[in-house]
Amino acid sequence: MVRATRRQIFFEDREDSQHRPSLQEIENRRALRDGPDENDLPPASSSRLVDVLGTEYPVPDWLITEEYRDEVLGTIKSGKEGSVFLVERASPSGSHFLALKDYKDPNTRAFHRDQMYRDGRKFRESRETRAVARKSEFGRQLRAGQWQGVEFEILRTLWAAGVSVPYPVEELGSSFLMQYIGDETRAAPRLVDFRPTISQAESLLDQIFDNVILIAAEGYVHGDLSAYNVLVWEERVWIIDVPQAVDLASNPHSMELLQRDLDNVCSYFARKFGVNRDPSEEMARVISAAV
Ligand SMILES: Nc1ncnc2c1ncn2[C@@H]1O[C@H](COP(=O)(O)OP(=O)(O)OP(=O)(O)O)[C@@H](O)[C@H]1O
Ligand SMILES: [Mg+2]
Repeated sequence: MVRATRRQIFFEDREDSQHRPSLQEIENRRALRDGPDENDLPPASSSRLVDVLGTEYPVPDWLITEEYRDEVLGTIKSGKEGSVFLVERASPSGSHFLALKDYKDPNTRAFHRDQMYRDGRKFRESRETRAVARKSEFGRQLRAGQWQGVEFEILRTLWAAGVSVPYPVEELGSSFLMQYIGDETRAAPRLVDFRPTISQAESLLDQIFDNVILIAAEGYVHGDLSAYNVLVWEERVWIIDVPQAVDLASNPHSMELLQRDLDNVCSYFARKFGVNRDPSEEMARVISAAV
């Protein structure tokens, strides 16, 4: 099904290129994508669709939703537990890329064995109960332990709250489609593959903290935040890989996980870029901003 092409080599493990857009360029692009002001997040939407639970959700302008054909073009990243593929969605009027995250075997993921992540999961009661009652796809997925559905739902919630996460497009069996971060030459590098200047590093770290606050304000802790799960594109950070996110209020380990996320990020920036922040102070800031 997936054609192994030169693109695979091209996209996978490629180092960051040196293109650094000017601040004005970034602002122009951001304005085009998100509206005139970052505070206006979530991005402007042209329409709303209704999902299987009957929940309305916004659809961004750039997404082709009618008369399209999706084609897998190559691999962005392949791993033991799953892969992410580059997909082209084409319609008579144009095309754009998407990313397809496919869990090979969801049960192999470490967090499935880790009760810490599952305790008090937010939608266990309300959403799951409703979903099961309606024999919905989401309920079926929860019962079957299909965690890509869980990741998709969390992404949808976080995106709607203005967190910088890829827009979740559609669930497809053991995989789901989301906004692709990157361009036709390369996928966005992970933070771990990106070498910023000191001032860029400071801005990236501030953005990460802002996103942690938005995530916490929405009642979640990422739970696996690291330089591997942050993408950087045109000076903007994108938080990815959220299936293990835990409920801030009801998970007994949420504070521990939040502190660990902040410790990871702070020690990475201190070690790699000499940007020093106190993780305990950041913890206090996140908590007071989020509640
Ligand atoms: N929306 C996206 N756009 C571009 N690249 C992406 C996107 N989502 C994921 N990737 C790429 O795929 C990789 C794996 O994605 P993710 O971290 O969500 O999955 P994972 O199951 O944790 O895999 P891994 O164990 O390899 O990190 C990311 O590190 C990133 O390079
Ligand atoms: Mg990851």
